[in-house]
Formats: sequence, C-alpha cells, structure tokens
Amino acid sequence: MNTIATDLAERFRTDGFAFPIDALTPAEVEQSLAACHTYLRTVSAAGGALARYAVFPKIHLVSTWADRIVHHPAILDAVETLLGPNLLVWSTNLFVRPAHSGSSLAWHQDAVYLGLNGFQQHAARVWVALTDTTAANGTMRYARGSHLRGALPHRFSGSGLEEIMRGEEIAVDIDEAAAVDVVLKAGQCSAHHLAMAHCSGPNHTADGRFNLAIDYITPQVSPTAGEDSALLVRGTDTGAFSRETRPASDFDQAALREFYTAVARRQKRIDQTVRSRKGDHGEGTDRDPA
Ligand code: NI
Repeated sequence: MNTIATDLAERFRTDGFAFPIDALTPAEVEQSLAACHTYLRTVSAAGGALARYAVFPKIHLVSTWADRIVHHPAILDAVETLLGPNLLVWSTNLFVRPAHSGSSLAWHQDAVYLGLNGFQQHAARVWVALTDTTAANGTMRYARGSHLRGALPHRFSGSGLEEIMRGEEIAVDIDEAAAVDVVLKAGQCSAHHLAMAHCSGPNHTADGRFNLAIDYITPQVSPTAGEDSALLVRGTDTGAFSRETRPASDFDQAALREFYTAVARRQKRIDQTVRSRKGDHGEGTDRDPA
C-alpha cells in the first residue's frame, strides 16, 4: 500500500471518515449530472415503484450513469484500500437538496436500520459529490470518532423507510464543536463508516446539491435476516447475497426486472429490521449494535 492509501485507511479507521478523494473528472461530472436529471424526470413520469424507489436503494440497476459511477476505477481503488480486494455494491442513494431548501437531516447513524452483520470491519459508504458541497448548501457533517461509540440510541419518529430516513434522530448529545463539514469539489468523494454519526443542513444557495452515496461491502457482510442481493464490482464473491446484473442500457427490460425484484426483497428486509428494532426494544431505548 502506498503512503496516500495508508493514510486514507488510517484516517478511516481512527476518524471514521476520509475525504477528499479525487474521483470523477469534470467531463464525467457534467455527463453524470445531466444523466441524473434525465433519470429523475423519467422515473417521476413513470410513477409506481420506479418513482417510489427513485432515490434508494438500487439506482445503479436501471441507470447506466449510476452503474458507471459505482464501477469508477478511482472510487474502487480507494475503497479497496479500506476494505480489501473483493467488493460488492449493496445500495445506491441519491441525496438531492434543492436550491433554497429548508429541509435537513438530524444526527443519525445509518447502520441502525440497515440490518447488516459485519459492517463494522467490512463496509463503507462513499458519498460522491456531483455538485460542489459546502456548509452553505447544507453539506453532510460528521461527528469525528463517533463510529467508535457503537450503536447510539435513536428515536424513530416514523414507521416507513422514508420517515425513518428523514425522522430518525440520535437521542444522545453530539459535540457540535467537533463536527466536520464535508466540503468537496464536484467529482470528489468522501468515505465514511456506517456507524458514523452524521447530519446535514438546509441549502441556502441558488443551486441544488446532488450527491450519490454508494454502500460498498465485502463478502464477509451478511443480512441479519432474510434474503438480499448485491452487485459484485471487483474481485470475487463467496458471500451471502444473491448476485445482481449490471444494466445493458437505461431501463431495459432485464434491468427493470432485476430492479423490481431487488427493491421488493430489500423493502421486505428493511420492514423486518425496523419492526424488530421497535418491537423488541421499545422506541428510542435501543442500544443494541445493528
Ligand atoms: Ni444517513
């Protein structure tokens, strides 16, 4: 491992995050962002499951622009230094904060609702900036080192996936003075641990903020319950996830079939995960590691 790679892995381990990582070229950013806008218009017009699951969790199964990003060599090289040579994509998430949007996300850890065994050592979320990200446009903030505190108690204010992603909140204090703004140029990315506490703010600028988040896992990760699938993007896979196929073109018939199957399977599992967390432990008092 070279010095830069060692440094990246070391920061990821101790801080729980590492950025900036240079990834997409300006031309790739321009192309991806244009394709992303087209994608959002298309799924919105299509309605149904395509619209319902437009921003989570399998964008890369129907969109060649997202497929290209999850396979981007610079991103995979960085993730390989963190997780090793065998890599799968478990999820893609599109985070859009429109111009002058007052919405924000409270402090939370993603790991508490993902239902993955082995994520502590074998998973990372890569947050790719398709536009510049700044404090002014409500970029993500990290609580440095919070991944070492394990699963923090969360208040769940909703029951569906959408509500949980919007409404979950950590019930313990975060030291705001130690919070770090994820400031990136378009094309750069950041990697963070799935137990990293993070939040994001309102967008006070005249331009939308677009980020694609990619959850990378290794074959050591497995679902806590139920059947699930993932896409092998580097190395070999001997793991517990059903194998997914890349889209040949945007929304082609085989890709749509793959997408519908994968999101239905995932939704079932997330429902189970959320139900068991709320039911077994009582809302807001859960301290078990996810
Ligand atoms: Ni999150």
